[in-house]
Amino acid sequence: MANGHGRLIYGCMGLGGSWDGTSYGAAEIDQAAAVIDAARGIGVELFDHADIYRSGKSEAVFGEVLARSQGLRENIKLQTKCGIRLGERGLDTHYDLSREAILERVNGSLKRLQTDYVDLLLLHRPDPLMDPHEVAAAVGQLMAEGKVRQLGVSNMSGAQIAFLQDELETPIVANQLEMSLLRRDWVESTVLVNHPEGRGYSFPHGTVEYCVANGVELQAYGSLAQGRFTGAQSAELSLAESATADKLAELAAEKNTTPESVLLGWLMKHPAGISPVVGTTNPARIQACADAAGVAAGMSRAEWYGLWVSARGNNIP
Ligand SMILES: NC(=O)c1ccc[n+]([C@@H]2O[C@H](COP(=O)([O-])OP(=O)(O)OC[C@H]3O[C@@H](n4cnc5c(N)ncnc54)[C@H](OP(=O)(O)O)[C@@H]3O)[C@@H](O)[C@H]2O)c1
Repeated sequence: MANGHGRLIYGCMGLGGSWDGTSYGAAEIDQAAAVIDAARGIGVELFDHADIYRSGKSEAVFGEVLARSQGLRENIKLQTKCGIRLGERGLDTHYDLSREAILERVNGSLKRLQTDYVDLLLLHRPDPLMDPHEVAAAVGQLMAEGKVRQLGVSNMSGAQIAFLQDELETPIVANQLEMSLLRRDWVESTVLVNHPEGRGYSFPHGTVEYCVANGVELQAYGSLAQGRFTGAQSAELSLAESATADKLAELAAEKNTTPESVLLGWLMKHPAGISPVVGTTNPARIQACADAAGVAAGMSRAEWYGLWVSARGNNIP
């Protein structure tokens, strides 16, 4: 079993300007450069993308920064995702993990990122129409061409990973899921087995265990809970959320750190070795995440359970 303390990953979904098809300008490139600097400043090595983020513009502005920063590409790791199609074939959203789609989308990402390879390719969501043989053929080709170094998935259960893995020649090394003190299904499902309250949570049993047992890194998106516990202006908090925000602030003051580091430290304390994907584009908020691994290392069992019970708003069974 992994021993807690994953690594922080930076999530690039906020870069590149609007989600529509309009183009980006110097301001969006400068923002990406500042964010990359801030993230590297707190030790981030891996940057998370997807072909669809901001209609390709998240990758494109990142590629512009790579092109103008000599030596940067060799000093970071990049992952991108494919498998979701937005606004195509008369549909708002559909999934496509066909061989042609995987090849076409990865080539598009490489072009926008202005790089020859990604360190990791994630299959963004399970596509009910996917054929594992086709996925294996596409991934095998991309790896043989040197365009993809490792493969991962996102939003998949342990059973779905095993189903794909059976046909693949390369190991699936990561699974990216929404996991946080706000979206707690992954941890609630461990204690609510055979409990009526468990019906309120949606997380396939055994997924965390499958990932740990098979060396699949758990990457947690939404790890800052979109700022819900740490001062996001728009959030109207429930009583439990408000109490949890207070608790995070108290613990942060006691530990001489920030609420963001305590929030992420809570995830990283879990022995699965969860790697939080942090998506804020605010450099000061990125900096506020710097102590997360240290907080995890020093977090007591009582503090960890105290935060969990506070966020759920009632006791565990
Ligand atoms: N695999 C998937 O299906 C999937 C789905 C969603 C996301 N992701 C990945 O995960 C990354 C993180 O996801 P996320 O952005 O939803 O999660 P997050 O890191 O929990 O939230 C960051 C978002 O919350 C906003 N925010 C507002 N106030 C904040 C505060 N006080 N503290 C922190 N954030 C605040 C940020 O805005 P500012 O930028 O203004 O700070 C930003 O838009 C994405 O960038 C993407 O790479 C993956």
